[in-house]
Amino acid sequence: MKLSRRLQMIATLVDIGVKVIDVGCDHAYLDIYLTLNNSNNCIATDINPNALAIARKNIEKEGLSEKIETKLCDGLDGIQVSDTDNIIIAGMGTQTILNIIKKSNLSDTLIIASNNDTDILRKEIINLGYIIDSEIFLIDKNKPYIIIKFKKGYKKYRNIDYLFGPILKYNKEYKKYLNNYYNSILKKISKTKIKVRFKYRLLLLRIKFLI
Ligand SMILES: C[S@@+](CC[C@H](N)C(=O)[O-])C[C@H]1O[C@@H](n2cnc3c(N)ncnc32)[C@H](O)[C@@H]1O
Repeated sequence: MKLSRRLQMIATLVDIGVKVIDVGCDHAYLDIYLTLNNSNNCIATDINPNALAIARKNIEKEGLSEKIETKLCDGLDGIQVSDTDNIIIAGMGTQTILNIIKKSNLSDTLIIASNNDTDILRKEIINLGYIIDSEIFLIDKNKPYIIIKFKKGYKKYRNIDYLFGPILKYNKEYKKYLNNYYNSILKKISKTKIKVRFKYRLLLLRIKFLI
């Protein structure tokens, strides 16, 4: 089983040996990898019965049915969570992730990879009493991804930290990506749309000078 680079990077953030709750496991590739390579016991959950049926087949094929529990549920509904567990939620939009998180008991460590609105995600999870422990930016098959590990704690953050990430704002590859991305948008905006152009110019300046 070959894990995508994105899932491999998520795996690097998972604590060794702890219980993992993988919300939206899809085909459970990550859970299989973590059980075999990171000494984790996993609970693999999904809201989609078809995805979970394939996950169960994959787990069985690897002989890991004793080690990976599967559960058909919405988010963390009905799952017993301990402080030391690592909760992983990856490959969903920020609103779906926040809906799941806000109605659940959470552990001290969350590993989240949202498809969009990472600034909103950071702010909302920090407001729930977490700090950002690690951030990873990667491009996999031409698509950009951000993975964030949150830990229980308190720290004051600035708006720029929510926007670009308190760790990623120093990441050269991420800054280069954003620079190219905003410049490509700017090129497509008509010269008459002064306000919109100003917004992107400002973003480019903020990336350059981190203000
Ligand atoms: C794009 S896949 C991502 C799979 C895997 N986590 C990854 O990152 O590769 C999103 C998965 O989340 C599941 N999902 C969406 N909303 C969910 C929810 N509220 N609770 C549990 N699973 C959910 C979907 O059924 C789907 O299998």
